[in-house]
Amino acid sequence: MKKKIIVYERLEKPVLKSLQEKYDVKFFKNIDTQTNEEFMNHLKEAEGIIGLALEVNKTLLDNAPNLKIVSNVSVGYNNLDIEELTKRHIMATNTPDVLTDTVADTVFGILLAAARRIPELDNLVKSKQWVEALGPDYYGVDIHHKTIGIIGMGRIGQAIAQRAKFGFDMNILYHSRTRKQDAETKFDATYCSLDDLLSKSDFPVLITPLTPETRGLISKREFQLMKPSAIFINASRGKTVVEKDLIAALQTGEIAAAGLDVFEQEPVSPNNSLLEMKNVVTLPHVGSSTYETELKMSELAARNLEAGLNGEKPPTMINPKVWELLTK
Ligand code: DGY
Repeated sequence: MKKKIIVYERLEKPVLKSLQEKYDVKFFKNIDTQTNEEFMNHLKEAEGIIGLALEVNKTLLDNAPNLKIVSNVSVGYNNLDIEELTKRHIMATNTPDVLTDTVADTVFGILLAAARRIPELDNLVKSKQWVEALGPDYYGVDIHHKTIGIIGMGRIGQAIAQRAKFGFDMNILYHSRTRKQDAETKFDATYCSLDDLLSKSDFPVLITPLTPETRGLISKREFQLMKPSAIFINASRGKTVVEKDLIAALQTGEIAAAGLDVFEQEPVSPNNSLLEMKNVVTLPHVGSSTYETELKMSELAARNLEAGLNGEKPPTMINPKVWELLTK
């Protein structure tokens, strides 16, 4: 009999097809997992879950007695209760590395878009309002040779630093849980406290994972520390920022602009004031969303899932302790 697995929200088609050939697959999207009967029924027998942003908490796990592995199709895993999974000897995996360069490219995309006002000017041209040469009211600001402040110097933070250094000749400040000597040497990056970074950067860029320590990391006080000319970029998770404080900082001119790939609530509410602001560039959480990269993420997630189901060690485990416990 084929093993039962759940695919949630997103998996690229060729990968989904290949899993469907080997497993009894049920695909779910846009459902309330707590109340969806079909989901709950399948969950009882499922040995694996693969997908994007499914909230795996104690309640879900209480209804998943046969679960061996949860394979996230993302590098972030704030949707998983790792402690609870580990306690139950359930493997958890994510998709690091394969998306690093793509997310770093996106960060520079929104940074350039916000600094050079690209969406606003694109809109002006397309709405046929370009009727004379534009003056200072429409100028942007340079990013080359300015100071970028990277909050979170993990793999993606370092790929951002690489672009900043070698693409735009920028001065690099960073703040991270641990110092990264390698990045300091390679990119001439200077480690500093969060407060120093915020007060000295032209472009504070947030790229930390969402953890209990980073939830609400940037709020009123932090915006007050930023330069009035600062352009703030968030490509981590919406909840690392207190969004009402970001809105206030933009409304009062405490900071100049923002580029956001993530929001406190996703999809973003149509009533969110950020959507009304010309100096805010928005993206619908697509940091890693190129076809090539999404495919690589799906493939890696499927490799993780299959390894776990076959009693092998998945290549990119979040809780390797479970493997030790299972093979003791
Ligand atoms: C990731 O991989 O964490 C991206 O943000 C997609 O969720």
